[in-house]
Amino acid sequence: MTRPHNYYAGPAAMPVEVLEIARNEMMDFGGTGLSVMEISHRTKEYDAVHQGTIDLIKELMGLGDNYKVLLLQGGASHQFAMVPMNLIAPGESADYVVTGTWGKKAYKEANIIAKGRVAATTEVDGVFKTMPAQADLDLDPKAAYCHITSNNTIYGTQWKTFPNAGNVPLVGDMSSDILSRKFDPSPFGVIYAGAQKNLGPSGLGVVIIRDDMLAKCNKGLPTILSYGTHADNNSLFNTPPTFAIYMVNLVLKWIKGKGGVAAIEQQNNEKGKLIYNAIDSADGFYTNTIAPDDRSLMNVVFNLQTEELEKKFVTEGQAAGFVGIKGHRSIGGIRISMYNATDLASVQDFVDFMQDFAKKNG
Ligand SMILES: Cc1ncc(COP(=O)(O)O)c(C=O)c1O
Repeated sequence: MTRPHNYYAGPAAMPVEVLEIARNEMMDFGGTGLSVMEISHRTKEYDAVHQGTIDLIKELMGLGDNYKVLLLQGGASHQFAMVPMNLIAPGESADYVVTGTWGKKAYKEANIIAKGRVAATTEVDGVFKTMPAQADLDLDPKAAYCHITSNNTIYGTQWKTFPNAGNVPLVGDMSSDILSRKFDPSPFGVIYAGAQKNLGPSGLGVVIIRDDMLAKCNKGLPTILSYGTHADNNSLFNTPPTFAIYMVNLVLKWIKGKGGVAAIEQQNNEKGKLIYNAIDSADGFYTNTIAPDDRSLMNVVFNLQTEELEKKFVTEGQAAGFVGIKGHRSIGGIRISMYNATDLASVQDFVDFMQDFAKKNG
């Protein structure tokens, strides 16, 4: 059976090699005679998966011992609430750089729980097409943190160089580009991500928190919503989403086997060059108006001249084996999400389809 080219924005493509290992281990994980989802989270077999996942995230991201990795239930939206709840002390506020729908939602949550302040927004007439320059940021030097969204999944924009918030720690929602490229984690007090794009199945949130941030978390929170609870219990305070963590573990081993994040980044750069070049060289048949420096290497959005042509593109694309290529319902157009598991050959096939479609319909 041939599998379709998977361009869904999330849940998204998993490496085939990972799916095959999971399939092979489904009836007998590690000699237990059971699948990993059927064994207690207090067993030594599960513990190796759990600790291995935490250790590999630290290793692959180059995190020092001053960071804790938490594996929590709930996706990134859960962190929109947990971050301000834990990190904005009474009387303080936090800065939000709003560059898309998800950042706007995070900002909204901060204001339900505590106080958020917009340090910059690139929203114009309800849409976000640009990223701010450092000079556009109105930063509060006393902010509890400065929240950014590293990659805007819906609008197809991405920070290539993270903003400098001085002594204020950055908090990064990296749901749609975690482990896709190398970066210096040291300005970040917190990094969080829903797993369902670059890491594994949905339902798991990865939270990376620096010790100094952990030390100043608010007290008196409901136990389950406190980062301290999960840090003190190595994310085993209650039953973790064991199967999702097992899948993430396999994905992390796959990344390591590929040569780590540097090798993955190189492939992502090549995929980006290929697709953006196909868009830019189509004599206006395909358009993407985002400044080249701000273009996402994970989610590529573009338009055709009419909505009718876009519908035809989606229908014919699907028939040719490309699924998940319709733009987000809020902005329309076409979006292809090419996370780490998407290989260069798949993007080349998609580019061939684009060129063929342009020839027939141009
Ligand atoms: C950048 C970003 N943040 C947050 C979310 C929300 O994630 P979840 O559905 O896991 O809450 C998404 C989902 O696509 C996203 O792309």
